Amino acid sequence: MKTCRKEPIPPTGASGNEPGLQAAAFFNAAAAAYDQPRHQRFYGRVAAELVALLPAGLNVERLLEVGAGTGFSTLVFQSGFPEAQVTALEPAPQMLDRGRQRLPEVEWICRPLAGMPPASFDLVASSMSYQWLDLVERQKIVKLAAGGVLALALPLSGAAEMNGNLALRKIVFQLRGGNWPRQARRRGAVEAVLRRCFLEVNTGIVRIDEEYESCLGLSRSLLERGAMHSLFGEKAAQAAKMMAACQEQACFRWTIGLFVARSDRSRWRGAQAPSMAAALKPRR
Ligand SMILES: C[S@@+](CC[C@H](N)C(=O)[O-])C[C@H]1O[C@@H](n2cnc3c(N)ncnc32)[C@H](O)[C@@H]1O
Repeated sequence: MKTCRKEPIPPTGASGNEPGLQAAAFFNAAAAAYDQPRHQRFYGRVAAELVALLPAGLNVERLLEVGAGTGFSTLVFQSGFPEAQVTALEPAPQMLDRGRQRLPEVEWICRPLAGMPPASFDLVASSMSYQWLDLVERQKIVKLAAGGVLALALPLSGAAEMNGNLALRKIVFQLRGGNWPRQARRRGAVEAVLRRCFLEVNTGIVRIDEEYESCLGLSRSLLERGAMHSLFGEKAAQAAKMMAACQEQACFRWTIGLFVARSDRSRWRGAQAPSMAAALKPRR
């Protein structure tokens, strides 16, 4: 059996306000409410859609999941690659404990992505957790996947289609971590950058309509998933109250971007991801 490591969340520094740790604290408190069948159906479906987008016949010996939660998505990834050695990174101890009970054979590491030492994996997957990572962590996840495949599912807000695909644009922007240069708004620029960074890219959109018996049920569910928090920030409690006051049936449409890319190490030489400007330069 593989070892299970449980390490404390690293010191938070002077402010103690790092976004990753705030999210971990939120999910730590929400673990019991999160770990229920409705949420498992939802997160399990998203992870299954992501697995379906992976290249056929992909050989995965080492798999890392970032933000594994209570193991809903981990279970799907593990079933997709039963021979793989799975490492699940999850910074909220209460979420991780449930994940470990669900999947004791997985190696669980209690850390935010920022605290993950360098390592190499055939597949780095993150389902519905990418939105909680800070910019540095978003760049780190791409580097961890260098030489393998990166698979992300992330909730999208706003229009799903924008100069191709919004999920793509977001990810390319975050690879760079800086300003979105003017030339990148050019039609086709996103695809050009992606071709320089990755060997193959595959994207998709999943739409999931969820029916609720009342707005109260919907607002409770959004709260438990942390979605209310990310949608309304500090106004989450106010928004929850307003929704709870409405007793009518409710339907919530999720739009989730899927992104799968294979990269080779030569494209990621050096500590930094290629800059947007360098990636956009025509190749000789
Ligand atoms: C919405 S849950 C998704 C969990 C799981 N992937 C699933 O599909 O059920 C998001 C998870 O990301 C984790 N998370 C938040 N910040 C993180 C960070 N900086 N590094 C790694 N995981 C993080 C949270 O603790 C939470 O468990």
